[in-house]
Amino acid sequence: MSRDTRERYGTISRLLHWGMAVLVIWQALKLFDRINDGEHWVGQVLVPWHVSIGTLIGVLILVRIAWALRNKDNRPPAPPPPMLGLLARAGHIALYVGLVLMPLTGISILVGNGYGLKAFGMQLVAPGPEIEWLATFGGVIHSPLAWLLVLLVAGHIGAALWHGLVRKDGVLQRML
Ligand code: HEM
Ligand code: HEM
Repeated sequence: MSRDTRERYGTISRLLHWGMAVLVIWQALKLFDRINDGEHWVGQVLVPWHVSIGTLIGVLILVRIAWALRNKDNRPPAPPPPMLGLLARAGHIALYVGLVLMPLTGISILVGNGYGLKAFGMQLVAPGPEIEWLATFGGVIHSPLAWLLVLLVAGHIGAALWHGLVRKDGVLQRML
């Protein structure tokens, strides 16, 4: 099992990155509920996992942040120029913040409306009284933030492909 180095992300960082990439794209399929009220394969087979997978992402992002902080001095630095490096860093931090806020606001919608929280068949929070401010907080933020996150991920994938196909500077390879 390889460790993070200045040249390349190690096994655990890459597993977290690609595992969560799949899960986040799966979560974004919730937008397909807007097509034909979700009456299609995506809506009936993939989207019903939204709460379970979202909760899992909430746990994984804490592990990932702890892992990133622990290894912060031996991870690949951004290539020059410095302005683009800063932009990449800001983009990565924004992705991390998004992955913390999405589960928090999603859980706020359910708990705030008194439904409790059930993930992968486990009742994590029992149904209870409505908490109006919590439901409003989640309800106002979750959907607009989801759209923002989707845009950010699209930009991120575009940047990764630009590194791999146009600039050919090895930045894509160090996450593969
Ligand atoms: C990274 C994690 C998550 C992502 C990327 C995500 C993404 C989304 C998206 C794209 C939508 C559709 C928004 C729209 O149609 O405008 C949505 C709606 C929703 N999500 Fe999440 N979600 C995440 C986590 C969660 C969690 C953990 C829960 C609950 C525990 C949750 C509960 C909900 C609910 C109840 C809705 C419907 C809300 C509404 O229609 O206003 N989500 N989410
Ligand atoms: C096909 C999809 C994707 C590709 C090709 C891709 C590619 C990459 C590459 C090459 C890096 C390394 C950048 C560097 O070394 O400076 C990276 C880092 C990163 N990616 Fe992605 N990515 C994808 C999807 C995602 C998704 C869906 C997320 C989360 C929403 C994500 C979050 C991150 C974060 C936070 C980093 C910073 C490194 C870290 O701290 O883990 N990526 N990605």
